[in-house]
Amino acid sequence: MSINNKALATYRLLKATAEVAEQSLEGRIQHYRAHLKTEEKELRTFTQKAAADLLGCNNRTLKRRHDQGDFDALDIKKGANGHYAYTLSNIYEMAEVMGIKPDHRQKGDKLQVIVINSLKGGCGKTTSLVNVAAALATTNIKRYRIGIIDLDPQGSSSSFFPFADPEPITVGDLMRDCIDLDEGETWKSLVSQSFKETHIPNIRVLPSGMDDFYFEHETATILRENKGYEQTRHYHKLLEKVIQPIEDEFDIILIDTAPSLNFMFYNALMASTAMLIPVHPEAVDFDANNKYLKRLGEIYHTVAALGHHGWDFMQFLVTNYVKGNHSQRDIVKDVRSAFGRQVMSYPINHSAAITASSSSFNTIFDQKVSDSLASRESLIKAQENIKDVVDELEMLIRANWTSTQSQFEETA
Ligand SMILES: Nc1ncnc2c1ncn2[C@@H]1O[C@H](COP(=O)(O)OP(=O)(O)OP(=O)(O)O)[C@@H](O)[C@H]1O
Ligand SMILES: [Mg+2]
Repeated sequence: MSINNKALATYRLLKATAEVAEQSLEGRIQHYRAHLKTEEKELRTFTQKAAADLLGCNNRTLKRRHDQGDFDALDIKKGANGHYAYTLSNIYEMAEVMGIKPDHRQKGDKLQVIVINSLKGGCGKTTSLVNVAAALATTNIKRYRIGIIDLDPQGSSSSFFPFADPEPITVGDLMRDCIDLDEGETWKSLVSQSFKETHIPNIRVLPSGMDDFYFEHETATILRENKGYEQTRHYHKLLEKVIQPIEDEFDIILIDTAPSLNFMFYNALMASTAMLIPVHPEAVDFDANNKYLKRLGEIYHTVAALGHHGWDFMQFLVTNYVKGNHSQRDIVKDVRSAFGRQVMSYPINHSAAITASSSSFNTIFDQKVSDSLASRESLIKAQENIKDVVDELEMLIRANWTSTQSQFEETA
């Protein structure tokens, strides 16, 4: 096929632009890696009162346990004030000593894979996901094993959970078949190691990388070659290559996505057991959301025809809601009258504490109240708000775990 002169000129222009872009990207990647190295984070420590609250006992019980020497084998440090400063790992170990069992899914309960997606950029997908994950992990003693998969090549959610590896294996690497196994290594162990430990002991993250964008290009090529689905299974890559090999290691996997209905998103849908759709209550965003929902049905049809089992729940989550703003309140009313019980009861409110913590890639649960850039009141309010959202999400999740349902019925 011949290319005409104008197309050739356009192609040359794009090649030159690509070179500049590559240099600029390289710079960004270096910057990002530098950020990873310097920001080996530690989760805040907990006071004795906070540890007792998490463990469901009172201060005096903990003191007595210390006096009896029950925790002597644990490496619990004291802060500058001479009081115990418990890490979350310490608290988990104390729970073991005290006979408090983890309260997560049992054999036979389905791994929950929750995808957060919207076509609307900046509607709060990443902010909501990282804060919900941190709340699920740090505000109870259930010890959920949480995985975060960052399907957005811009790596926004990965940035909240930095780790020391300068060249991590990314989700795209695993999906794109571009890794050779070392001798004696299994695919399962490779995938498992690719989920990196983070500063929160029961959250592991599978990061993204800029090269993950190539998954789109490669899938488009596969589709053009028209090989027949069974040969390529290009919408099953995330499920079959990444999630199935490690499904026994997690209770809940949260998947962050780019604001796009790209092939990565088809994969997320195929792997999903549930869907969270953030809605930012501004008129233009709500209209865009409705257009997105029309497309989502068509895309889901493709995935369903290839064997998806259906969702356990699909919920709308109002995000970044400015309380007292009349036009936002009217839009939330419209959202609720349109989608009824599919809208989460609590919105995630706009919060100065979330803005402040996000600007330094922290969730609002990472830092002590005294270390937060926001006011104490604002941080506590935001934490309470996210906990309310997480309580409802937990109910939706646990409704699918038969082993925990009876407990729920008892406490309801
Ligand atoms: N509840 C909130 N309170 C304050 N700021 C918020 C809140 N939710 C989101 N934001 C801010 O809004 C901006 C966009 O949020 P975020 O990056 O989470 O959106 P996103 O949907 O993941 O964007 P993208 O589509 O680019 O991935 C960020 O600056 C974030 O700090
Ligand atoms: Mg994002």
